[in-house]
Amino acid sequence: MATFDAISHTIRCDILSKTHVADNLAMRKEVSRTFTFPTKEMYDYATLATLGDDVYFEPSTKALEDHVAQITGKQAGLFLPSGTASNQIALRTHLMQPPYSVLCDQRSHINLYEAGGAAFHSGAALTAVIPSNGHHLTLEDVQQHIVLGNNNHNAPTAVIALENTLRGTIFPQDEIIAISDYAHSQGIKMHLDGARIWHVAAQTETPLKELCDPFDSVHPSVLVLAGPTAFIDKARWMRKLFGGGMRQTGILAASAAYALTYNFPLLPAVHALARRLEKGLEEIGVEVTSRAETCMLFYDPTSIGTTFDEIADRASDLPEPLILGDARLVVHIQTSESAVDDLLSIIRQLAEEKQATGFVKHAAKRPKVQSEMYAQRETKK
Ligand SMILES: Cc1ncc(COP(=O)(O)O)c(C=O)c1O
Repeated sequence: MATFDAISHTIRCDILSKTHVADNLAMRKEVSRTFTFPTKEMYDYATLATLGDDVYFEPSTKALEDHVAQITGKQAGLFLPSGTASNQIALRTHLMQPPYSVLCDQRSHINLYEAGGAAFHSGAALTAVIPSNGHHLTLEDVQQHIVLGNNNHNAPTAVIALENTLRGTIFPQDEIIAISDYAHSQGIKMHLDGARIWHVAAQTETPLKELCDPFDSVHPSVLVLAGPTAFIDKARWMRKLFGGGMRQTGILAASAAYALTYNFPLLPAVHALARRLEKGLEEIGVEVTSRAETCMLFYDPTSIGTTFDEIADRASDLPEPLILGDARLVVHIQTSESAVDDLLSIIRQLAEEKQATGFVKHAAKRPKVQSEMYAQRETKK
């Protein structure tokens, strides 16, 4: 028979590598050009959090929930482990008994990137609408696709879920209010996926509460879902049911609180850097397909005769590599000016090489910005 010491020996676990401190420092440098990474200051602050159990209202976590509820103008908040969990639990809590549907933008996170969660968790069909103006859903789009009435062939719309920003673009607040007034007049709930609502607040200098007022429930990232007290009480029940009732969450809540205090004020500089990247791309002749209204833009390098793969290969070969995907470029608080300069020089170099082989640049199309779309709408009226 095995001795207790032998059993203890097999159970022992040391996950810290001998080099993890140095590895973290190296990783911090590498990823900070491309991905975000907790800074030492955030980490130090996080370790000061209380060590309570969040199934029984962990104190630091409760303080974050109350704060987020207050700044979004809602009665209560609930800590959740991820943005996806927030969206899904919000839908599950709003929705009661199928048949029903959720209307959203075709490009939204809820439609494309939550593994079909609305169908799985809530039995909800999604009405995924392509905005007619190519930028954001309008009241007319909603009215055209909403499902009302008692026809039992259809799944009536029970929730409209909007995302702001969506792909870095700002949803005009007057349009949100028009959609919300209409939805509420039909007894339909409004949910905001506000993973990037901070960027809207920073860029338009609008208080969070004003941005969130048209919605019944909001998920402004920082791991908190906010809404009316009865809704949050039910969502807490759903969180338990989904297995998302976590224990010592203070360390995560404190990281989120740190981000609100110290990182939010950095956003105007982030947006300026994204615009600088956009200007640099346009000077080279690259087509920008979705403009840098906040921290991200989308581009198409075929106008200069190159491809995403060619750019990504060169970027990964830099002495300080950049990890690139395809059309989406995101700037964040840890993106350095030199990272933007490096990317622009790679693309400039590729454009020159293509020209030397006889490639003639296409005239890059320029997507309309919001003010131009509105001018067009006014003229049509
Ligand atoms: C708009 C939006 N909503 C929701 C999420 C989901 O957040 P998480 O990755 O924490 O599940 C993301 C993640 O990137 C997002 O961009």
